[in-house]
Amino acid sequence: MILESGRIAEMATLWEELEPREIVAAALDLFGDRITIASSFGLEDVALIHMATSVAKGPIDVFCLDTEVLFPETYALMNRFSESYAIRLRRVVPEFSLAQQIERYGEELWARDPDQCCKLRKVEPLGRALQGYDAWVTGLRRAQGPTRQNAKAVEPDARHGLTKVNPLVRWSDEQLWAYVRAEEVPYNPLHERGYPSIGCIHCTRAVSPGEDPRAGRWAGFAKTECGLHL
Ligand code: ADX
Repeated sequence: MILESGRIAEMATLWEELEPREIVAAALDLFGDRITIASSFGLEDVALIHMATSVAKGPIDVFCLDTEVLFPETYALMNRFSESYAIRLRRVVPEFSLAQQIERYGEELWARDPDQCCKLRKVEPLGRALQGYDAWVTGLRRAQGPTRQNAKAVEPDARHGLTKVNPLVRWSDEQLWAYVRAEEVPYNPLHERGYPSIGCIHCTRAVSPGEDPRAGRWAGFAKTECGLHL
């Protein structure tokens, strides 16, 4: 069901008051099998998959934009989830393999033009991943930084013509960690080694305590978003 922006705005007001698990349940109820979860297997995403599979009646669609340069720890976690959770996991790969990207754009595009690299390896594949769905669920939280301040529990995704659901939007880092620990959800060990936000291997570094959690993404560039959420 494709929702109009007015209806989405009304829902955003109502859902703002709900707990994340209630938002997930309401979204699954509303969109049925026309909704999918976007997962990079960060802390938010593992919590969301845990919530969704605990309220859903059947397996849930989940996709990962597999840039082919994710951390080994991320691939290991992804495999663990696909084996132990009731999900249908789809790995969506870029149109060009890394070798083809090098042929067309040269070596280490990420170091010279990270926007272009993100476009090829994440943003364009996202469009394909969302085809056939009416809504998607993401782990966006306002506490992640200034670019995420205005995120809503549910919002129109004008670029794809879909509804975007952000159940964790109000949660702090502490609330998220408390949930993951209480529910014993498997998580990426890199989070405990200074990586609050984990993207691709070449464009993610550890941050120091007290540093902006997203400072480790595209460090050295005036870039804080890959473009999935712009
Ligand atoms: S990003 O835009 O900087 O990469 P971030 O890592 O904070 O985003 O993740 C925010 C949300 O975007 C995640 O909770 C997830 O829903 C979605 N997302 C990010 N990266 C991916 C990915 N590789 N595959 C699928 N979803 C992703």
